[in-house]
Amino acid sequence: MTAILFVCLGNICRSPLAEGIFRHQVELARMTDRFTIDSAGCGGWHSGERPDKRSITVAQAHGIDISGQRARQIHVDDFDRFDLILGLDRDNVRHLSAMQPQGSQAEVALYLEKAHGIAKNVPDPYYGSAADFETVYRLCEKASAALLETYRI
Ligand code: 4NP
Repeated sequence: MTAILFVCLGNICRSPLAEGIFRHQVELARMTDRFTIDSAGCGGWHSGERPDKRSITVAQAHGIDISGQRARQIHVDDFDRFDLILGLDRDNVRHLSAMQPQGSQAEVALYLEKAHGIAKNVPDPYYGSAADFETVYRLCEKASAALLETYRI
């Protein structure tokens, strides 16, 4: 069993897509019993909210429903509950590394780098257009497939 947490800034745009796409691919691969999957934000401004409408829309266009997700803020307990904590950009990774408690065994990494060795951010689409959300979707779709591939026996 591997517990994976996807973390961005607000947990309404990028990490809900990363979570939803990975969960969808895990279901297609019939590997749901092998993972705990969740997402969180470095900040708590949007706690309790649904994903941004533009993230819900782009996911829906690809046949994935993320509307049931609710935003939450990262908590120190997450460093005991999750094996792998993936920051969607470098600021997120810095925030996560700074709050990781001594003795926590969790691996904190940059999402695209851990997934397929591409040391790049998933760009924040919050002030962007629908096309920026499509870009996030495609980045997450590829990264998610590569990440899942590393867990196939
Ligand atoms: P996310 O996008 O980190 O991908 O969820 C953002 C959401 C909200 C804000 C910034 C980025 N905000 O400033 O409220």
